[in-house]
Amino acid sequence: MENDVLLSVSGLRISFRSPSGTVRAVNGVSYEVRRGEVMGIVGESGSGKSVSAYALMGLLPRTARIESGSVRFEGRELLGLPEREMENLRGSEIGMIFQDPMSSLDPVFRIGDILSEVIRSHEPRVKKKEAWARGVEMLRSMGIRDAENAARSYQSSLSGGMRQRVMIAASLLLRPKLLIADEPTTALDVTIQDQIIRLLREEKEKSGMSILFITHNFGIVADICDRVTVMYGGHVMESGTVNDIFYQPAHPYTRALLRAVPRVDSSRREPLKTIEGQPVDATNLPAGCVFSTRCVHCGGLCRREQPPVRTVGHEHTASCWLLTEGGAENG
Ligand SMILES: Nc1ncnc2c1ncn2[C@@H]1O[C@H](COP(=O)(O)OP(=O)(O)O)[C@@H](O)[C@H]1O
Ligand SMILES: [Mg+2]
Repeated sequence: MENDVLLSVSGLRISFRSPSGTVRAVNGVSYEVRRGEVMGIVGESGSGKSVSAYALMGLLPRTARIESGSVRFEGRELLGLPEREMENLRGSEIGMIFQDPMSSLDPVFRIGDILSEVIRSHEPRVKKKEAWARGVEMLRSMGIRDAENAARSYQSSLSGGMRQRVMIAASLLLRPKLLIADEPTTALDVTIQDQIIRLLREEKEKSGMSILFITHNFGIVADICDRVTVMYGGHVMESGTVNDIFYQPAHPYTRALLRAVPRVDSSRREPLKTIEGQPVDATNLPAGCVFSTRCVHCGGLCRREQPPVRTVGHEHTASCWLLTEGGAENG
């Protein structure tokens, strides 16, 4: 089973220095991504999803501090890897796509040149013409009909959906083993979102890559993820298969999130509606459970001590004081 694990994150803690104090963004996050699976990271805005993903890629801003933890990719520790080696991994072994494709596509180059450069920067011996052709081929497999024409154009002439396809093409050119997707469809309209998700699913089936899919949208989770890690306040609240999370959510936070999406079928693609109370302040975390300030079931112990991770089913864990053995708490 060990070899099944592609990425293993354990005990990751990240903080920021800021004028208003220390921002405790990620507070001991652990999860694994297996080969060929899609792991969803879900949670409200500010839960630490992006910061933890940036850490995996060595792309944290200078003000960030990795306090502790380990990130192993195929058994190899990534934290503290020299920038040159990290750069090599990014793109070739680990691909990335973000919410805003604009910021990552250089406006002064043609799309085909950008794609060629991705190839040639990792495979310097490939000729320009061949790299261009591979770029065009990749655009075609992204469902872009006139791929030749798209390759000759600049990002400014493309729609948001097209730009995101181009970004996905760029991230998949070197056949990464892991694709990290941080809310890649959030800025797109619903039809385009559907197409992009379908595309990613197809690419995954074809290549056997793993995807770490960050989203705050449960409809997308249902569509593409195999397992889910639910985050709040920089902590993992619950982790399990998609079925565990949808049909037997154990943590009050997960339940509140699911309640905020009235019907999974009819509300597909709708972002999470807000749940009661204010999200936790990362500069001033509560002493006990991070969710205690919003939890309707909260008791004295919850306010005093952080709950341990408990096993509530096969592959299903949750971090809550109120769980009973073998299942969720009542109500
Ligand atoms: N560059 C930064 N400087 C200070 N605080 C930050 C920075 N980036 C993120 N944070 C804080 O870290 C926490 C987690 O943020 P983030 O990972 O972006 O959340 P999510 O992706 O789940 O919406 C938030 O409290 C956010 O304000
Ligand atoms: Mg984010």
